[in-house]
Amino acid sequence: MTKVSDKIIVALDVATKERALDLVEQLHDQISFFKIGLQLYTAEGPEIVRAVLSTGAKVWLDIKLHDIPNTVARAVESANRLGAHMLTIHLSGGSEMICAATAARANNMTILGVTVLTSATEQTLSEIGISDKVENQVLRLAKLGVEAKIDGIVASPHEIKILRAEFGDKIRIAVQGIRPIWAEPGDQKRFMTPCQAIAAGADYIGIGRPITAHPNPREAVAKILDELHT
Ligand code: C5P
Repeated sequence: MTKVSDKIIVALDVATKERALDLVEQLHDQISFFKIGLQLYTAEGPEIVRAVLSTGAKVWLDIKLHDIPNTVARAVESANRLGAHMLTIHLSGGSEMICAATAARANNMTILGVTVLTSATEQTLSEIGISDKVENQVLRLAKLGVEAKIDGIVASPHEIKILRAEFGDKIRIAVQGIRPIWAEPGDQKRFMTPCQAIAAGADYIGIGRPITAHPNPREAVAKILDELHT
């Protein structure tokens, strides 16, 4: 059975390699999985992925690929060669792009699909020509992804229920927008606590600022793990 601490992924949304590696060093005996997103990857490139992997931790490369199928497939191969354990693509790229990504996957790398960004609303969808509810668009894109053999979905915690109802245990679900009860909500509006997200059926929970912006990140992780074990 997966240990509950293995379900927590710390988002290294920081500007420099030094700050990121300092966090990994502080947390390495509590956390085994870290997320490298666009801010850090754009600043430091593949070297930061190698550096985090060299500590023995796993890496979720959250660079949300969305391009022509051939370009996405080649980028998936590059992520395989880097040794990333998990990679995100945008499902709005369509089935041909998603199939190109899943066909290029190797080394058991998990490919997660992004449906509708948690920052998007019905108004955002209507701006790009989609006149439907966010929930319907999430399900439509998730189905496209599952048919094209992705491994899982990145979702808001509030979408876990509809995704599990539709796909059962066929997919893994990674959620973000997580706030422990004691943390500042910041810009997260529709959040869940780590305990609520795990109880709702999340396989992975990505947490950033409640840990990385805490004056004592180790203490923040310890509090979250305590809450999950009680
Ligand atoms: O808010 P927090 O710092 O915990 O964010 C962690 C991750 O969650 C970020 O790397 C971002 O990709 C994602 N996020 C999200 N929806 C938001 C805000 C952040 O999915 N509204």
